[in-house]
Amino acid sequence: MQEDILNTKNQALAQLMSAESVNELEQIRIDYFGRSGKFTNLIKDIKKAPPEERKHIGQTLNEAKKSIETLLEGQKNSFKEVAREWFDPTIPGEKPDVGHIHLITLTIEKISEIFTRIGFERARYPEVESDYFAFEALNMPKNHPARDEWETFFVDVPENPKSGKTVLTPHTSSGQVREMLRVGKPPVRMINIAKCYRRQSDISHVPMFHQFEGLVIDKGISIVNLKGTLDYFAKAFFGKDRVTRLRPYHFQFTEPSFEIDISCGVCGGKGCKVCKAGWLELGGAGMVHPNVLKAGRVDPKIYSGFAFGWGVERVLMMREGLGIPDVRMIYSTDLRYLSQF
Ligand code: DAH
Repeated sequence: MQEDILNTKNQALAQLMSAESVNELEQIRIDYFGRSGKFTNLIKDIKKAPPEERKHIGQTLNEAKKSIETLLEGQKNSFKEVAREWFDPTIPGEKPDVGHIHLITLTIEKISEIFTRIGFERARYPEVESDYFAFEALNMPKNHPARDEWETFFVDVPENPKSGKTVLTPHTSSGQVREMLRVGKPPVRMINIAKCYRRQSDISHVPMFHQFEGLVIDKGISIVNLKGTLDYFAKAFFGKDRVTRLRPYHFQFTEPSFEIDISCGVCGGKGCKVCKAGWLELGGAGMVHPNVLKAGRVDPKIYSGFAFGWGVERVLMMREGLGIPDVRMIYSTDLRYLSQF
């Protein structure tokens, strides 16, 4: 019987060595260790051997079984490795999707970079703000009708006796007085870029949007400084050939106040269906109202300043021409749209 075992073992090892696939190896395993496999039968035969030899036979069987199993495992692994290593270099690779920074973040970075280049300091103020900084300190006392323009969201918390109700800030102008108080003594050169909230949703409004607010206060600041700064921005952001103009307007927190227009990039200022007679409206600006300076503990007899506050989404859409027909698309999750930028 010892000889049978050794023969069976050698036979199995030889077959395993010459096997050419994992399937063949599996077949060999069944032939030897299956229910009526050659090796299984040998194990059954132990019973027939004289009792004094059984122990020895058992040992030989075990050793043989181990050698076969070890070789079987080894061969299986070597097939797997070959499969893993082999590749066809002519098959095009799988490209993983690559993300990129969101359009609005890119625009904010660009705006921030343009203003910091000419000495502005980036600031950020709370989105959940008090009525005081959002309205009252900006020369809009309680119940002033001008407040209606800012379709404000109110936060449901108890009113503070000093600072009033709590709001989601409807504009970045709420950072003006905060910045004056933070700096203490002019010069102030702030560019506050932040989220704003208003109860509006249509093709040119989203309830959450962004504004960038400039504020400059120093001795001898005039409209000339305002115009020069805005022209600089317009050329840097929209292109060298663009010019701006000031149009009289009204805001409570500036005097005088202006709407700023930029020459149309589509017709070059001649007038076309995109613009109003050659001009596009950019946003508001003006010379800081003395009451606002006072709220920031700045003496209006010594200092003067200018401010402007424009929409990030708006300037982006204007730069892209007709490419963005609805501002809400900017906040869609449609990658076919977003990945164009
Ligand atoms: N806060 C105004 C708005 O949201 C925009 C604005 C106008 C800001 C004139 C200013 C300014 O700083 O001087 O409509």
